[in-house]
Amino acid sequence: MAKKKSPEELRSHRWYGVKDLRSFGHRSRTAQMGFTQDDYAGKPVIAIINTWSDINPCHTHFKDRVEEVKRGIWQAGGFPVELPASTLSEPFQKPTAMLFRNMLAMETEELLRAYPADGAVLMGGCDKTTPAMLMGAITMNLPVIFMPGGPMLRGNWNGATLGSGSDTWKYWAELRAGNITEDDWKGVENGIARSPGHCMTMGTASTMTSVAETLGFCLTGASSIPAPDSRHAQMASLTGRRIVDMVWEDLKPSDIITPASFDNAIRVALALSGSTNSIVHIVALARRAGIDLTIDRFDELARTTPVLANLRPAGKYLMEDFYYAGGLPALINQLTDLLDVNQKTITGKTLGENIAGARVFNDDVIRARDNALSESDGIAVLRGNIAPDGAVIKPPAAEPHLLKHTGRALVFENYTDMAARIDDPDLDVDENSVIVLKQAGPQGAPGMPEWGQLPIPQKLLAKGVRDMLRISDARMSGTSYGACVLHVAPESYIGGPFALVQTGDLIELDVPARKLNVLISDAELETRRSQWVAPPPKFERGYGMLYQQHVSQANKGCDFDFLETIPVKQLDSGEPEIH
Ligand code: FES
Repeated sequence: MAKKKSPEELRSHRWYGVKDLRSFGHRSRTAQMGFTQDDYAGKPVIAIINTWSDINPCHTHFKDRVEEVKRGIWQAGGFPVELPASTLSEPFQKPTAMLFRNMLAMETEELLRAYPADGAVLMGGCDKTTPAMLMGAITMNLPVIFMPGGPMLRGNWNGATLGSGSDTWKYWAELRAGNITEDDWKGVENGIARSPGHCMTMGTASTMTSVAETLGFCLTGASSIPAPDSRHAQMASLTGRRIVDMVWEDLKPSDIITPASFDNAIRVALALSGSTNSIVHIVALARRAGIDLTIDRFDELARTTPVLANLRPAGKYLMEDFYYAGGLPALINQLTDLLDVNQKTITGKTLGENIAGARVFNDDVIRARDNALSESDGIAVLRGNIAPDGAVIKPPAAEPHLLKHTGRALVFENYTDMAARIDDPDLDVDENSVIVLKQAGPQGAPGMPEWGQLPIPQKLLAKGVRDMLRISDARMSGTSYGACVLHVAPESYIGGPFALVQTGDLIELDVPARKLNVLISDAELETRRSQWVAPPPKFERGYGMLYQQHVSQANKGCDFDFLETIPVKQLDSGEPEIH
């Protein structure tokens, strides 16, 4: 290991190493916790940001994992300090964990700034925790490793394999169509999540942990290991060991992330047929790093990136199968000609060196290039008169005949309106209709919830309809599927032209041409605009008000304007003098 730092150059030296009244307090209070100076003096202090909580089922193993991370830190000569942080529990937090992603990003940044951290291990996995902690860590620019929580084991019910989210939507539709019983539904409820770990489909959690690994923030292969696997515990301990060396090497996020590493991450997310949510998060991460990544880059790269991972919701298998098939290193090894494998990672080696020799053990799970699930277009970015700043769709998750479709709009002004009317037997709707939901964006919902897989009306479900064109300014769970156009920007709540669509308008979607338009004249749009009335603010105080006043639109990553590093600023910790 090439040491670039002396103990006196450690950031923590300002707390522990100097001789003044304040440092007396730091040392005496560390003694109060049972440590002697031998435990920490001159050693890297490693903050472990732990998003464990009783209310987060995806992180239940973090109580054990944090001890394993600490073990590794002790073994390598560091001093571990666990710092609990907001858990962002996707299944429980209302109205949506996305509302609080930026709060955890701020918390991560400020924890690292306020305490004597020389480096950090970030423990996350449940959807928003990954981008949130990385956003804060990129801004602080201290040596950092992301320790992914790992996917849970496959679900099981009556011999059927169940996937998080995907099979929830599937069996919910069957229940509403009268094809399964309440007892069946209970069986699905008890069998769909049967171990610690995050969702095991290629949803947002698996996509974002794979993105974190591709960007270079994880030990090689870490993101694919199932949470209960003993190799996950080993990975936690190795993470603890590695971060101590990284502090001495002074290997920081700004040494790792570049426009090329973001291109690599986008390519890998596309090859995984990853969650559309990753677009919002990857853009936010890039903008934290001072890289002005646009959503059009996703579309450009999608045109030449094959989908190789046969994982639900776009494919057949689950993350446990992906791990046994070789995991992310094996997938990346199939793509090397499309990637810049010279990008540096937290291992101290390049991405290419990390994955060299990684093999595929099941070529139905991780497909060969000449047997791809689809040749391209894992994601498509659309534009048109109702989405001038863009909208996205995941073509592999939609029924192909809907990718070029014109239909009559059925508009719901907000979620409450939709919930009240969607199953009305007299609803004027057929399978060619285009279901539209407004006020579901970053400010309008608020928090841009995962409402984008709009429900299919019950009377059409009963007729066997399982997919329809649906459009909203919401996000969609990465575990969902269907012809759902999402992230319409600007959102309806702030007066984007999407707000002006009315029931009965014809809407035209043309994915091959990347177009999304309402077929009315510009003059008619202008008339409607002059009559549009802005809705009242959603919040008058607190975090909600801060959020509403500063959140950016989906195409800019939904970060707070005062947290971004665009326009480019020098990446540093911006630390004020601390006494
Ligand atoms: Fe935590 Fe899906 S609920 S990752």
